[in-house]
Amino acid sequence: MVITIRRGTMSDYLGMQKSNLYCLPENYHMKFYIYHGTCWPELSWVAEDPQGRIVGYVLSKLEDEGPSTTPNAVTHGHITSVAVLRSCRGNGIATKLMTQATREMRGLGAKFCSLHVRESNKAARHLYTETMGFTVHNVEKKYYADGEDAYDCRLDLDKAE
Ligand SMILES: CC(C)(COP(=O)(O)OP(=O)(O)OC[C@H]1O[C@@H](n2cnc3c(N)ncnc32)[C@H](O)[C@@H]1OP(=O)(O)O)[C@@H](O)C(=O)NCCC(=O)NCCS
Repeated sequence: MVITIRRGTMSDYLGMQKSNLYCLPENYHMKFYIYHGTCWPELSWVAEDPQGRIVGYVLSKLEDEGPSTTPNAVTHGHITSVAVLRSCRGNGIATKLMTQATREMRGLGAKFCSLHVRESNKAARHLYTETMGFTVHNVEKKYYADGEDAYDCRLDLDKAE
């Protein structure tokens, strides 16, 4: 099946939200997708099947570390959410979505990319640390609503693909 990887636009938000509901317990209101897409249009990417169905997405943003008014505030990217429908997994789609998002972040001046991942999420941890080169920066205890710890991971964008 030919899957197209492209930037997400306003007409994709519903498909992204649907994919998110299928794949993850962390779900968001439509305004959250609109906020990301409006503020950082370069940082939302989707995977589309030949029927025009959204089968995967990455939603990401820029953040400032330290008060943005201080001269040495470091801009970094943050992956808010990424998911691929179960039937399409294992084909490199998440890797492509993540690579596009992190490239764009670097283009926007981000020095590193951060994200959180559940300790138990082996597939995502493999994707981030083995495939993409993220390292574990910190463990945030009971980060998730159900009490699970999060790995706070970072990718140095100067060294990324
Ligand atoms: C995590 C997820 C996005 C990966 O999507 P994907 O398109 O299957 O990932 P890719 O095909 O790009 O695979 C990337 C790497 O992860 C590995 N991988 C994929 N699924 C795996 C699994 N279940 N267990 C171990 N490794 C796995 C692949 O083998 C590949 O490794 P390689 O680069 O060494 O060959 C997908 O499983 C998913 O949507 N999960 C539910 C949502 C989720 O957990 N999102 C992340 C929240 S932090």
